[in-house]
Amino acid sequence: MRNVILIGFMGCGKSTVGLRLSYRLRRTIIDTDKEIEKEEQRTISDIFATDGEAYFRDRETACLRKLTGMTGNQIISVGGGLPVREENRALLHELGQVFYLRAKGGTIYERLKDDTTRPLLQVDDPLSKIETLLEERDPYYMEASDVVITVDGKSFSEILDEIEKNVEEI
Ligand code: S3P
Repeated sequence: MRNVILIGFMGCGKSTVGLRLSYRLRRTIIDTDKEIEKEEQRTISDIFATDGEAYFRDRETACLRKLTGMTGNQIISVGGGLPVREENRALLHELGQVFYLRAKGGTIYERLKDDTTRPLLQVDDPLSKIETLLEERDPYYMEASDVVITVDGKSFSEILDEIEKNVEEI
């Protein structure tokens, strides 16, 4: 069976949806951020602070390449910035069926306004940063995805039902 891949902006619900989906579909879950943190033995914030964003982006591509060689029948949740790189979008398509959890800036802001673990949002005006990044990235998310799931105002079980309905059992 093909992997189910979850993409979308920070705070769109990839981790929670991924975990619940893994119970429903009885598949294991892999999260690229967690894989990178495990391999590097430090947090994403530490990686950004010490080695910078470019280093982290290279680690993301390396992680995807590794997964392409080894997985199938899993749920894979990827960091919010990963689909921005063209090579990564091609790798995502190779890896499986890609679901974009699409959220509005306001929804994301409400979920992340007190979060300190996203280095890109530790700025004076996180809402406008979210809006700018979202506008920049939405076309990439659309291009990278096979199925778009709008998440604003929906419960997790509604989102899960919608994903499950669209999962190709091949
Ligand atoms: C990032 C999203 C984060 C993490 C890093 C950068 C981004 O993952 O990879 O902080 O550029 O959008 P989540 O989408 O899981 O928060």
